[in-house]
Amino acid sequence: MALLVLTAELTGRSHCIRQAQQIIQRRLSSSKRWQVRQLKDHFTREAVVQGLKSRAAFKLLQIDEKHRLFKKGQTVVDLGYAPGSWSQVALTRTQPNGRVLGVDIIPSQPPKGVSTIQGNFLDPEVQAYVREFVRDPRRGRPRYVDSHGDTESILEQNSASDYQQDGDSDTQRTVDIVLSDMSAPWVQTTGFWKRSLSNPYNRMMNTSGVAFRDHTGSMDLCRAALQFSYEVLKAGGHFVCKFYQGAEDKDLEKQLRVLFHRVHRLKPESSRTESKEAYFIGLGRKPQAQKEEVLRTP
Ligand SMILES: C[S@@+](CC[C@H](N)C(=O)[O-])C[C@H]1O[C@@H](n2cnc3c(N)ncnc32)[C@H](O)[C@@H]1O
Repeated sequence: MALLVLTAELTGRSHCIRQAQQIIQRRLSSSKRWQVRQLKDHFTREAVVQGLKSRAAFKLLQIDEKHRLFKKGQTVVDLGYAPGSWSQVALTRTQPNGRVLGVDIIPSQPPKGVSTIQGNFLDPEVQAYVREFVRDPRRGRPRYVDSHGDTESILEQNSASDYQQDGDSDTQRTVDIVLSDMSAPWVQTTGFWKRSLSNPYNRMMNTSGVAFRDHTGSMDLCRAALQFSYEVLKAGGHFVCKFYQGAEDKDLEKQLRVLFHRVHRLKPESSRTESKEAYFIGLGRKPQAQKEEVLRTP
């Protein structure tokens, strides 16, 4: 009898070990497949050629080509900026005098000219810090040294009225565009020994592969980005947000329609066809939208 119990226990344990081995094997081979695909991919190669930090840049470039988001001098907040190709695009398109603030949960070398904050955007304290940063119109702007060796920001060279856009009198709203390419990362199980901290993008690009989990995680991140946009976006401002398609995205779209004059869904050409990833684009923030209505989940 004792022998039977022991055999059953051993069989159960070896079953668990086999399952664990299979999971690790699947993760290893999927990360290998991802690396091989990255190397072959046209957009990945093009990103390297153009000095862009990742192929993700082409998604934003395609969105901008279609919807003409950027203008000179704008303030842009890039949520989930690392490694930074969206910030690179935003900075180039808003020069001269534009400013870009990137926020990411992981440490990453900021692209040149971009201000960054490391923190979890779902943390209210991090959001408060980001709001405080953008509400000071001088923070994050280029500063110039004049002939006397004094530094001044571009805002000091121009009259304040140059920066009152679209007649928006609400001084709390200083941001022209909120971008969010955040995707919920899953716990790293392999690859600790390879460049993972110096190039965190390799690590954080991963989604769980479980459609429901990716979808619900992305809905939480999108809602946080939407609430933030309600608080900081100027009238007429724009919003771009990545999401993973699923049951709740229609509700999110309804919320977006309360805040923006026009709302589009887009699957950019450079987004992989097999991925459930898509983007919401909200154009023209309505000045009179009511907070409760925007944030009410239908
Ligand atoms: C697909 S990558 C962004 C790529 C970026 N748009 C680019 O062009 O380089 C998604 C990023 O979202 C970040 N992220 C995910 N959840 C986050 C959170 N709660 N707070 C801040 N960043 C987050 C990840 O760390 C990751 O760097």
